[in-house]
Amino acid sequence: LARGAGAADLAGRHVVVSAGGTREALDPVRFLGNRSSGKQGYALAVTAAARGARVTLLAANVELPDPAGVDVVRVTSALELREAAVKAAADADVVVMAAAVADFRPAVYAAGKIKKVEGEEPAPVALVRNPDILAELSAHRTHPSQLVVGFAAETDRVLENGRAKLARKGCDLLVVNEVGEDKVFGTDSNEAVLLAADGAEVPVPLGSKEQLADLVWDQVAARFGTRPL
Ligand code: CTP
Ligand code: CA
Repeated sequence: LARGAGAADLAGRHVVVSAGGTREALDPVRFLGNRSSGKQGYALAVTAAARGARVTLLAANVELPDPAGVDVVRVTSALELREAAVKAAADADVVVMAAAVADFRPAVYAAGKIKKVEGEEPAPVALVRNPDILAELSAHRTHPSQLVVGFAAETDRVLENGRAKLARKGCDLLVVNEVGEDKVFGTDSNEAVLLAADGAEVPVPLGSKEQLADLVWDQVAARFGTRPL
C-alpha cells in the first residue's frame, strides 16, 4: 500500500490542497452548489501534515472542523477559491485541486432576494463559465518544478476521459474517481486510478480516503525526487 505513510518525506515542502465544493450565489440567500463533502481534501491535508509538510487547506463550504496543524483558508465561490489558490500557490511545492469547482456561475447576482411574481413564469437563470483554476495553475507555475495535481469524477469511459482531461488541464497527476448515484460522494472510501503526465498509471484499490491521499503523496514525493528543497 502507501509507501511513504508514516515517513517525513514531505518535510520542508509547502503543500496546498483545495477541498469541498464551491457555491455560486444567485442572491443573498440562494446558490448553485454541489454535493462534495470535502472529506478527500481534508484527508489529503491531514496525511500531508503527518508526512511533515506545511499545509494550506483551501476549504470551500466544508462542514468539518479545522485539522490540527493545518492553515485553513475558507472560501465560498469559484472566484474566491481562484484568488486564494493563486495566492497560496506563490511559494507552494505542490497544489492539489480536490475541490469540486462549479463550472458555471449565475451571470447576474441579485443584490436583493429574488421574488416570485403572481401569474408570471420564472425568468431562466443565465450562466457564465467560471475560470478553470487547475488549468490556470498548471499553465502559470510559480516555479518550473512546482507540481499540480487534479481530481476528476467520471461516470463512464473513465480512463479515456481521464487521459484526455489530464492533457487538457496540463497538470502532472490526475486522480480519476469512478462515480455514480451513490458512489463516493459523502462516503468514507474511494476507488480511483492515478494518471501521470509522464505516462504512469497507478490503480488505487478500494480503500479509505486517507489511503488514497497517501498514495497521491507517494506519487508527489517520488516526483520531487532529486529536486532540492
Ligand atoms: N477544476 C478547476 N476549475 C474549474 C473546474 C474544475 O480547477 N472551473 C478542477 C477540479 O478541482 C478538479 C479538476 O479540475 O481538480 C477536474 O474537474 P472536472 O469537473 O472533472 O473537470 P472539467 O474540466 O470541469 O470537466 P467536466 O466538463 O467533465 O466537468
Ligand atoms: Ca466540472
